[in-house]
Amino acid sequence: MKEIDWSNLSFGYMKTDYNVRINFREGAWGELEVSSSEYINMHMAATCLHYGQEAFEGLKAFRGKDGKIRVFRLEDNAARMQDTCRGILMAELPTERFREAVLKVIKLNERFVPPYESGASLYIRPLLIGTGAQVGVHPADEYLFLVLVTPVGPYFKGGFSTNPYVIFRQFDRSAPLGTGIYKVGGNYAASLRANKMAHDLGYTSEFYLDAKEKKYIDECGAANFFGIKDNTYITPLSTSILPSITNKSLMQLAEDMGMKVERRPVPEEELSTFEEAGACGTAAVISPIQRIDDVENNKSYVFSKDGKPGPVCTKLYNKLRAIQYGDEPDAHGWVTIVE
Ligand code: PLP
Ligand code: COI
Repeated sequence: MKEIDWSNLSFGYMKTDYNVRINFREGAWGELEVSSSEYINMHMAATCLHYGQEAFEGLKAFRGKDGKIRVFRLEDNAARMQDTCRGILMAELPTERFREAVLKVIKLNERFVPPYESGASLYIRPLLIGTGAQVGVHPADEYLFLVLVTPVGPYFKGGFSTNPYVIFRQFDRSAPLGTGIYKVGGNYAASLRANKMAHDLGYTSEFYLDAKEKKYIDECGAANFFGIKDNTYITPLSTSILPSITNKSLMQLAEDMGMKVERRPVPEEELSTFEEAGACGTAAVISPIQRIDDVENNKSYVFSKDGKPGPVCTKLYNKLRAIQYGDEPDAHGWVTIVE
């Protein structure tokens, strides 16, 4: 194997040794299969190809100072995938099977789990797709669950450093009663144009306002939003954003640190009152926000004047990472050690 430069990994795909798969046929999930192929052979009329019957998840495994590998909140990802399945009528994989598959694929690819010192991690990507053939718009009767892994570095440029973001009013990612709360590929397809435009203009990512009133902050294409003021952690409550497991963890950690936590609609104007702000997610961890520009309204909300991450973002980031890497006790039972 070519030497991997662990400390300079980007958030990209790298081939690993194995993936694992479980098929759903005739109303039941089958045995777990180990594959070394990067390809899927499927029917050309599979519902995932035509009608977007696909769900995915994202979680990470970390190698600790003690050499042990820890997976973060895997049951929460299993539960969210089940929720997505209910949202777009796919067969639900039981948590126990999800756990079996995730632990197995990590074990099989152990040599790709980055060393502790690198600050990198193993990204785990569960995928569930409708493989049964349909021409009418109906759910499939066959599904494939697959888990692939790949070692990754930071999702947003520079890792834990501040970045500029932009609000575009001309795009919506998801509708108030649509699929934004589910982790389905269609939401990401809907974000591609806005994301490209953001990058072309020099921004790290795009922010969406609620699609109905264009008044409240929803989230980015791949991360939730939080703002900090008056010792309070404030994050949007919305029917069109993904319930982020990282955000849920940060709410708990903020509370543990003696902060107040508010989950409620966040009007855009309130951005001007935050002392700090961040984007959070499995891939992004915490990406402190330097500023958010509302280009169509010629406004700019600045959260970091000196370009450095603020003290609360830094504290939350350090605490979360310490739990994930096993440097601090796992007081909330979030971590599964891969045996
Ligand atoms: N929002 C969106 C749209 C995402 O794709 C993600 C990534 O999973 C998140 C938020 C963060 O969720 P989590 O913290 O569970 O990874
Ligand atoms: C994640 O944080 O796991 C994401 O889903 C982000 C992106 C790669 C889709």
